Amino acid sequence: MIDKEYYKMIFKRKSFRKFNDTLKLSNDELRDIDEKVKELISLVDNIDVKYRIVRREETTCKRGEYCLLIYSEEKEKFLLNIGYMFEQLDLYLANKDIGVCWYGMGKTQELEYENLKFVIMMALGKGQPSEFRRDYTKCKRKETQEIWNGVSGLETIAEVVKYAPSACNTQSWRVVCKKNKLKIYRTTNVKSIMPKDKVPFYNSIDIGIFLYFLELALLYNHISFQRFLCKEQDEAELIPIAIYNLL
Ligand SMILES: Cc1cc2nc3c(=O)[nH]c(=O)nc-3n(C[C@H](O)[C@H](O)[C@H](O)COP(=O)(O)O)c2cc1C
Repeated sequence: MIDKEYYKMIFKRKSFRKFNDTLKLSNDELRDIDEKVKELISLVDNIDVKYRIVRREETTCKRGEYCLLIYSEEKEKFLLNIGYMFEQLDLYLANKDIGVCWYGMGKTQELEYENLKFVIMMALGKGQPSEFRRDYTKCKRKETQEIWNGVSGLETIAEVVKYAPSACNTQSWRVVCKKNKLKIYRTTNVKSIMPKDKVPFYNSIDIGIFLYFLELALLYNHISFQRFLCKEQDEAELIPIAIYNLL
C-alpha cells in the first residue's frame, strides 16, 4: 500500500472495542497479516522484533478473534520503535476492514519468545466497513495549540497528526515548530488512570506511533525531512525525542 492509502486510514482507523463475533478472519487474511508484519519499516536499526498471532483466549484480552503479541530486544528506543512499526499495521488493517486495538492491559503467559521480551499486544478481528470511524473530527483529542507550538504553514499537518492513538488517550506528544525545524517532545506532565510507573512505558510507544503519523502526513504533503532521534534522557517535564529538519 502506498503512503497515500495509509494516510487516508488515519481518518478511518479507530480502537476496536466491540468485535462482531460472527465475523472471522480467513486464512488468507491471516497469511496477509503475517506477510505485512515482515515488511514493517523500523524506526531504529538493529533491534530484533518478533511477533506471534494467537487466539485471543490464550491471553487475558477480552476482545477480538486474535491477539498479535509483540516481542522485542530491550535496546535504547525499543518502545518508540514498536509504536512506529506496528502503527503501520493498524493503518494497513483498517484498509482491509480488520479492526485493531492496541491493548496495553492484556497479559500473556508467554513472556519470552525466542529470547525476546513481551512488550505489548494488539487485539485483531474482522469488522464491517460501517464499524470504522466516519467522522474523525468527533473523536476526543486535545486542542491543536495545546500540543503544537508555532505552526507556520503546517496547519493541516498539525491538525491531522493529533488523531494518533495513545494509551488512555494521554496524547503526551508536544511539537515545537521553528523555521524549518520540528522538535518533538514527550511531556511527563500527564493525567491518567494508568499507574504512574507505567506511564513512561506506554507513552514511549505512543510517541513512536505519533512519529509515524507525523512522517506520513509530511510525505503526503510532499515535505521531505531528515530525522534525528535524541538520546534517551532521564525524566524531565519535556523529554526531547526527535528533531525533523524539513527540506
Ligand atoms: C500503547 C497503547 C495501549 C493501549 N491500551 C489499551 C487498552 O489496554 N485497552 C483499551 O481499551 N484501549 C487501549 N488503547 C487504545 C486507546 O485508548 C485509544 O487509542 C485512545 O483512546 C484513542 O482512541 P482511538 O484509538 O479510537 O482514536 C491503547 C492505545 C495505545 C496506543
